[in-house]
Amino acid sequence: MSGGVYGGDEVGALVFDIGSFSVRAGYAGEDCPKADFPTTVGLLAAEEGGGLELEGEKEKKGKIFHIDTNALHVPRDGAEVMSPLKNGMIEDWECFRAILDHTYSKHVKSEPNLHPVLMSEAPWNTRAKREKLTELMFEQYNIPAFFLCKTAVLTAFANGRSTGLVLDSGATHTTAIPVHDGYVLQQGIVKSPLAGDFISMQCRELFQEMAIDIIPPYMIAAKEPVREGAPPNWKKKEKLPQVSKSWHNYMCNEVIQDFQASVLQVSDSPYDEQVAAQMPTVHYEMPNGYNTDYGAERLRIPEGLFDPSNVKGLYGSVIVTGGNTLLQGFTDRLNRELSQKTPPGTFQQMWISKQEYEEGGKQCVERKCP
Ligand SMILES: Nc1ncnc2c1ncn2[C@@H]1O[C@H](COP(=O)(O)OP(=O)(O)OP(=O)(O)O)[C@@H](O)[C@H]1O
Ligand SMILES: [Mg+2]
Repeated sequence: MSGGVYGGDEVGALVFDIGSFSVRAGYAGEDCPKADFPTTVGLLAAEEGGGLELEGEKEKKGKIFHIDTNALHVPRDGAEVMSPLKNGMIEDWECFRAILDHTYSKHVKSEPNLHPVLMSEAPWNTRAKREKLTELMFEQYNIPAFFLCKTAVLTAFANGRSTGLVLDSGATHTTAIPVHDGYVLQQGIVKSPLAGDFISMQCRELFQEMAIDIIPPYMIAAKEPVREGAPPNWKKKEKLPQVSKSWHNYMCNEVIQDFQASVLQVSDSPYDEQVAAQMPTVHYEMPNGYNTDYGAERLRIPEGLFDPSNVKGLYGSVIVTGGNTLLQGFTDRLNRELSQKTPPGTFQQMWISKQEYEEGGKQCVERKCP
């Protein structure tokens, strides 16, 4: 190797995609990630000399982090939940390192110094954070090579394009990000806080209005089947630890997220009360056995996502990403709205017009027909 060039392609490079909702990590080129677990971790103030580390448990400076689905789901006295990210960017570096340690030791099961790392970052990541991360990866993990890439660029490449408009609706935000030749056009980014968490909040309100309790599975010892709409018949676990509000809230959110994925439906045209009333209902059962049918609300809740002012330009190549776009009917509706708002025949701007030729001469063929 010369000039600091690293032959990163010949060794199994690792990819880390750490979003507000979940951590995805695995080897470049494989079909699916080796790890996919919540970015939210449990946090407990450690007792002096805590000693033994259990599966998914990482102790750092008087704190114990409970990382990954299993460890996070154990109810414990006083454990709070936290996330290392804020607005899609790394905020708590200790927690972030605990997640990386866990990913390396429990999922990758190989030494960090053996693999180049490709990490995704929010398109609005700051220079200071990028530098700090680069330093962390080389100094603390001793990795052989590093690359940081904006999420939207990775999405475009993963779809075989270097130019396109990437529409990403994840947990905390929905963005439309123009990517041109593999670079994000920063001035063109459109960002809205209306995404999965917003949908969860709306569902929570719906349950409140309907007086439906959200009881997460960790509280339930047993349940009996009940008929539709009848009060649930379930038994609470007897010895439950004194869990924190934040942890309980997270467990309730998981119930709501399942409801979002199973019941909600994006309307194929702007919401209309009468159309929604005709909507086929979906039957849904809560973990405590309460079950009922949902109709119009299936369409009403996701409707807030479709504010047309949030989508701009580059319509010919819209790439949709993020878990929230898995809402049934999401892409169908987007396609319909886009085709109504864009002039037909986007090729029009591609022709070299006579006027352009007269103004710019024959050289314009280079620019217009690359
Ligand atoms: N099948 C589904 N139907 C509806 N919503 C879903 C589905 N699967 C995941 N979601 C929602 O998608 C969101 C997570 O999306 P994603 O994994 O893209 O987020 P992220 O990249 O971790 O977070 P962000 O991009 O906000 O930093 C959650 O709100 C989740 O409830
Ligand atoms: Mg994301």
